[in-house]
Amino acid sequence: MKQPRSRRFETLAMGTALAIVSTATLAAETTAAPSSRLERGREVFTTWCATCHSSGPGMPGTQALQAKYDGKLPALLLERKDLTGPQIAFFVRNGVSVMAQFRKTEISDADLDALTAYVVTTARRRR
Ligand code: HEC
Repeated sequence: MKQPRSRRFETLAMGTALAIVSTATLAAETTAAPSSRLERGREVFTTWCATCHSSGPGMPGTQALQAKYDGKLPALLLERKDLTGPQIAFFVRNGVSVMAQFRKTEISDADLDALTAYVVTTARRRR
């Protein structure tokens, strides 16, 4: 006996919905959704960078950048609209002055990607 038309449509619609859901899941696994990538970037920044690059007194990174640019550029990393992802990544992997380089066992390539996206996005969102 043939299935009624509506029943066949239901099956088709269900199959399509499942296909969409599984594609979405796959995409989420391979390239993290933008929000979770930034969320991860914020975590990495808090763990590895905030101790020197936050605001407030006694922050070695913020102080050094204040001295370096003398107010011509923001001393706070998260306000630097001029820095690109690759530039930030270069400093993280190579270090500069008292800032040590970070190894891949500390900050993986994926975490570095999330971190630079977080710094660049945060800076651009600020006025
Ligand atoms: C031990 C403290 C310390 C930590 C931790 C640290 N930094 Fe730094 N960072 C500095 C100092 C100090 C400078 C300025 C060096 C100089 O005088 O040129 C600097 C410079 C930089 C610069 C270059 C900015 C410029 O215009 O010259 C970038 C980019 C940077 N840091 C990013 C990061 C990121 C991202 C992290 C976290 C992964 C991080 N730093 C962790 C201390 C630190």
